[in-house]
Amino acid sequence: MSRLSLFPLLLVSTLLTAELLTSEQMVQKGSAVSALLVQKLGGELTTQMQSGGPIATLHFCSQNALALTNQIAQETQTSIKRVSILNRNPVNAATDEEKNLILQWEAMLHKKETLPPYELKKLSNGQSVYYKPIVINKEACLKCHGAIATDSPLGKAIKEAYPDDKATGYKMGDLRGMIAVTF
Ligand code: HEC
Repeated sequence: MSRLSLFPLLLVSTLLTAELLTSEQMVQKGSAVSALLVQKLGGELTTQMQSGGPIATLHFCSQNALALTNQIAQETQTSIKRVSILNRNPVNAATDEEKNLILQWEAMLHKKETLPPYELKKLSNGQSVYYKPIVINKEACLKCHGAIATDSPLGKAIKEAYPDDKATGYKMGDLRGMIAVTF
């Protein structure tokens, strides 16, 4: 058989492999991909905060957070989002199905229960999604997501970049949202 005639076969088998990930494989991959994202965004955040402070970092995030996320998605051949009910960027708004899971996890936190490390869900459209909770676990997060006076320079910069911002007023231990890795 020539190389050319093998090509469609290879293509089909690649597609089939993508379809046939077991739940265990999705959990493994979801966990690896979300760890990469946390590492990447967290690393950039720390560097930028040290060199430029909150306002410069805010602008860095608004220009790069989505691109960095998409870059990791491409490298890992997945689709990744960060979603929240009280979102800053409108692109990161949780869907109704995602809101349900976030509310469920928030109820657990209110009852002082420990959150599961992840949840693998089958959506109504047939896709499987690995969800990982994002909890405010560093004081640094509060610099831009805590109690920020709206008339402070940072408060104004947030309003200017994100007129519909809902992502302030968080406290340590609050559920900020979740990472979603779709297969
Ligand atoms: C310098 C300010 C700043 C700091 C510090 C910061 N964030 Fe953010 N955060 C932002 C900005 C700006 C966005 C919107 C990014 C975008 O446009 O995609 C954002 C978005 C998010 C989102 C996506 C959902 C949404 O609301 O759009 C999550 C989740 C999040 N931040 C969690 C955290 C966590 C956890 C920490 C601490 C480790 C943290 N942030 C620290 C500025 C900050």
